[in-house]
Amino acid sequence: MCEYPTLSPRISFFSFSQPLTLQSTNQPINRFSAAESNRWFTSNCPNLASSSSKTFNVDTPFEQIGGEVSGSTCPQGLLACAYLCYSHDSYGVAAVPKSLWAHAQKAEADLWQGIGGGDSGSNDRAAEHWRSFDSLSCLPKGMQLGTVIEVGAGPWTQLKGFLHIRPDLEIKQFTVWEPSADRYMKEVSSCSYRSGDTLRKFDGSGMHPFPVNVISTGGESLINPDSSAQQQYDTLVSINVIEHVQDVFQYLTGLYVSLKPRGLLIFHDRYYSNDQITNGDIYHPVRIKKKILDHFLSGFEIIYNNCNADYDGRKGDQGYYVIARKK
Ligand SMILES: C[S@@+](CC[C@H](N)C(=O)[O-])C[C@H]1O[C@@H](n2cnc3c(N)ncnc32)[C@H](O)[C@@H]1O
Repeated sequence: MCEYPTLSPRISFFSFSQPLTLQSTNQPINRFSAAESNRWFTSNCPNLASSSSKTFNVDTPFEQIGGEVSGSTCPQGLLACAYLCYSHDSYGVAAVPKSLWAHAQKAEADLWQGIGGGDSGSNDRAAEHWRSFDSLSCLPKGMQLGTVIEVGAGPWTQLKGFLHIRPDLEIKQFTVWEPSADRYMKEVSSCSYRSGDTLRKFDGSGMHPFPVNVISTGGESLINPDSSAQQQYDTLVSINVIEHVQDVFQYLTGLYVSLKPRGLLIFHDRYYSNDQITNGDIYHPVRIKKKILDHFLSGFEIIYNNCNADYDGRKGDQGYYVIARKK
């Protein structure tokens, strides 16, 4: 049985009136109870070694990240060392400077550009996700998904694969919300939404009939500061995105506010234990603990939950495959 959820719902997580701050080592993290102190692991952080000349916040320039601790190079390597600076013992690395995020984004897009040169049904582990979602068998036959948004859709989207195994599902309109979308459309020749207004079918046999809208920005920008003008969708898909975002708290809040009440969430992401948190690499600056996902999911009624996926044999991977309705 999946352990879920372990936390009682805390509405504060979903209110986004106060910005998250990384500036100070002793500020409470907003959207969580103030009693949980913000104990960033800064004692070994090279950015704080000479704090008089360096800033340490979301706007820290890339050149100021990483370096030396007490005269010796960071043992984990420069980038992993930088991640350590932004790690919190309760949450893991949940937010990083924008410069570090941009660096990881470029590396990720370079990777897709390199391997996405074909024009066939390219995909990012679609079959692994089908298996872990049990082929979406909990959704009734012919279900109308309405307006659908996929956040962090990559060049190919996972919706495309879901419609391949569940061609009976109906869609009115599809929004791709992906910060590298502009680059994918220009530079990844197999990008499934290259036209900007249609989605290619998984088997390459043409385009889906529903209209497509592409927005090239991060999930953090889903939040409309004017909540009365917040755009909301019937169904939201987000798969394997968290390790790539700049601010997990904003990203998850963005997902939550972008779904209509009773809207359908199709979500997968991983979490990490203490000793895995700083094993990130250039593509994955962010690594969070289970607690954050439990907190997010406590805002939903769970329809399907698989926390024992096989991850294609990748040892040590753990996370949630969840289909749920917003409470
Ligand atoms: C590992 S890929 C997964 C793509 C897609 N979900 C899939 O499974 O095929 C992660 C994607 O997250 C995107 N991403 C990075 N930062 C993001 C952010 N702040 N908000 C939303 N997506 C982001 C990246 O550009 C990348 O396309």
